[in-house]
Amino acid sequence: MTDNAADPGEPGTVEGLAGTTALVTGASRGFGRAIATALSGVGAHVVGVARDQARLHDLRDELGDTFAPVVAEATDPDVAARLIGEHRPLTLVLNAGATPLLRPLHHQTWETFSRNWEVDVQHVFHWVREALLHPLLPGSTVIAVSSGAAINGSPLSGGYAGAKATIRFMTSYAAAESKREGLGITFASVLPKLTPATQLGASGVAAYAERQGIDLDSFLTSFGPALTPEQVGTAIVDLAAGRHLHQDAYLLSPAGLAPLG
Ligand SMILES: NC(=O)c1ccc[n+]([C@@H]2O[C@H](COP(=O)([O-])OP(=O)(O)OC[C@H]3O[C@@H](n4cnc5c(N)ncnc54)[C@H](OP(=O)(O)O)[C@@H]3O)[C@@H](O)[C@H]2O)c1
Repeated sequence: MTDNAADPGEPGTVEGLAGTTALVTGASRGFGRAIATALSGVGAHVVGVARDQARLHDLRDELGDTFAPVVAEATDPDVAARLIGEHRPLTLVLNAGATPLLRPLHHQTWETFSRNWEVDVQHVFHWVREALLHPLLPGSTVIAVSSGAAINGSPLSGGYAGAKATIRFMTSYAAAESKREGLGITFASVLPKLTPATQLGASGVAAYAERQGIDLDSFLTSFGPALTPEQVGTAIVDLAAGRHLHQDAYLLSPAGLAPLG
């Protein structure tokens, strides 16, 4: 078990995260890798969970001893229970997500339509449940990565938008349970804007450009500035440090975090 202080230093400052333990799911690439890097950069010990051993070990080579790779299936309830028990993270970032099959509704099967329910929703369910039941230490923060699609829909992504809306709901339910039971655990969801900067986002952007019958560059120009993984990492560090935490949900664009009512 990592020594995760219940005394995180000055709350509301990123310095307060130094020496604490953070756990990030989906840390092998994309947003999760950037979030793990940003948390490591402010001195947190980061446990990174994903299935791709080579990518996780590559990140370990980059970040050094402050990063502990765990090759595991994030949707496995036993993994959630074991890792929360072993590490008692002060910051838990539930970021893992499947790439949806990018086809219109009638060209999905139930299996492809429900992919993000089986991975994204199921993993948030197990980890949030363990965070409440274990429970995490008072002062801990649980951040679940939802999507801007939860508000606007995503007609080429099967059940993706609904799954991400459910993650937002689950996080707010957990926030209410934490308050009700006086656990002192903060729960928040983050809804990033679609970006071509990750594997998942790039496939989405390509599909929507094709559907509109325009080339990728024209689509991206019309889309405006792209959110970068580094901006996501910075935003998650700010939330983990308690800089913004007065709402249960935040939109995230290149302009930063915007609280949702
Ligand atoms: N990119 C965007 O435009 C965008 C916008 C809004 C929200 N999001 C959300 O942001 C999160 C990160 O997305 P991304 O764009 O960074 O995607 P990405 O590059 O495809 O990365 C997804 C990560 O999730 C991990 N993962 C997937 N299934 C897993 C499983 N069953 N167990 C453990 N790890 C698993 C992958 O690792 P392994 O394959 O190694 O397991 C990978 O590290 C997702 O929840 C996504 O829905 C993305």
